[in-house]
Amino acid sequence: MTDTLLRGRILTFHREPADPDDTDAYTYVEDGAVLIRDDLIAASGAFDVVSPDADDATLIDHRPHLLMAGFIDAHIHFPQVQIVASWGSQLLDWLNGYTFPAEAEYANAQHARAMAGQFCGLLADHGTTTAVTFCSVHAASAEALFAEAADRNMRMIAGKTMMDRNAPEAVLDTPQSSYDDSKALIDHWHGQGRASYAITPRFAITSSPAQLELAGALASEHPECFVQTHLSENHDEIAFTAELYPDARDYLDVYESYGLLGPRTLLGHAIHLQEREISAMAELGAHPVFCPTSNLFLGSGLFDEAGLRAQGIQSGIATDIGAGTSYSMLQTLNEGYKILQLQNQKLHALRAFHWITRGNAEVLGLEKKIGTLDVGTEADIVVINARATPAMTLRMTMVESLSEELFVVQMMGDDRAIAQTYIAGQPQKKGVL
Ligand code: GUN
Ligand code: ZN
Repeated sequence: MTDTLLRGRILTFHREPADPDDTDAYTYVEDGAVLIRDDLIAASGAFDVVSPDADDATLIDHRPHLLMAGFIDAHIHFPQVQIVASWGSQLLDWLNGYTFPAEAEYANAQHARAMAGQFCGLLADHGTTTAVTFCSVHAASAEALFAEAADRNMRMIAGKTMMDRNAPEAVLDTPQSSYDDSKALIDHWHGQGRASYAITPRFAITSSPAQLELAGALASEHPECFVQTHLSENHDEIAFTAELYPDARDYLDVYESYGLLGPRTLLGHAIHLQEREISAMAELGAHPVFCPTSNLFLGSGLFDEAGLRAQGIQSGIATDIGAGTSYSMLQTLNEGYKILQLQNQKLHALRAFHWITRGNAEVLGLEKKIGTLDVGTEADIVVINARATPAMTLRMTMVESLSEELFVVQMMGDDRAIAQTYIAGQPQKKGVL
């Protein structure tokens, strides 16, 4: 395959910037280039330095746009693509009224495959190149998603949801079938190309103790897999969980006591936490995942990013489609900024862009593979246009620095600001440079 040389401004992070002046945390090159060879980044840096090694490469000139690592969404539900923006309820009513009926359709493999195509296309259009994804309870839905991602050579972390109670029959499994199906999916997909498996008990309310026991068994039999679930999103959810697990010290303890917590565990929402839960999470290295648009949409509450950070906890950030209202990690940062503002916390633009790239990669333990423009990493790249709309163009007339420009993109950008997305070196937006 011939090499591809992308030219444009480039930005990549080496660690989380402490503040906007922490220039050692990143590399920014005005006239930069990224050389793509065999799905990987073969070189990146100044155009003058990279281009002599790229004689035979196809040159794509993205100037004046900004090249950055592809975005990573740390929590999203693929069978909820058709219920984004469903009106009026908080978590438990929203699940019963909209979510479970929609997810029941994913027993049909053809429907699942069609929606997997839509889902991956939407991710790419919004600049997301890796997603950590809940499928439905049906093994067919996970098969469909992994197959679609494999066709696109897209990095995908996903799992069949395990749920055996407190939902309609059409979206229930049993402890044993959930174990068997998850195991078969792990054998089929985990480590195949860019696929990783996430063991996925939906949340405490929809899993019996017998099912969580088997989820814990899977986690110990497959320490290379991720674990994903939900934690302390909503007050009614927390109260119902306490009724269902009266012996648990708190919500986290339900998962803890079944061996489901570790550095590869992702806990969606984690809003209403007790002191003990926070220290246990820190000790076990589990990662909360902040889902700003979802938390506002369902009226769930305000994620305490600074409080968790102060305890040494590293949080991910995610859209949580379909309770989340946008596929865009830029819009996710926009609403995340406002949630932190309400608590007198700050999310400056450099830290924000680190978070949706290298930061989420670190949360997944994948920073050697994705999340930067470093040589040898996978060529997942977004091309950002800070003048994508008339309002952004007007705002940009006043912008004087990189961090100001990034803040405009963070607050005003969406899929229109993604001029192109490369997944493993392949452009995803057709008819666009
Ligand atoms: N808790 C359990 N399932 C879900 C879900 O699908 N979405 C959200 N936001 N919370 C959940
Ligand atoms: Zn979720």
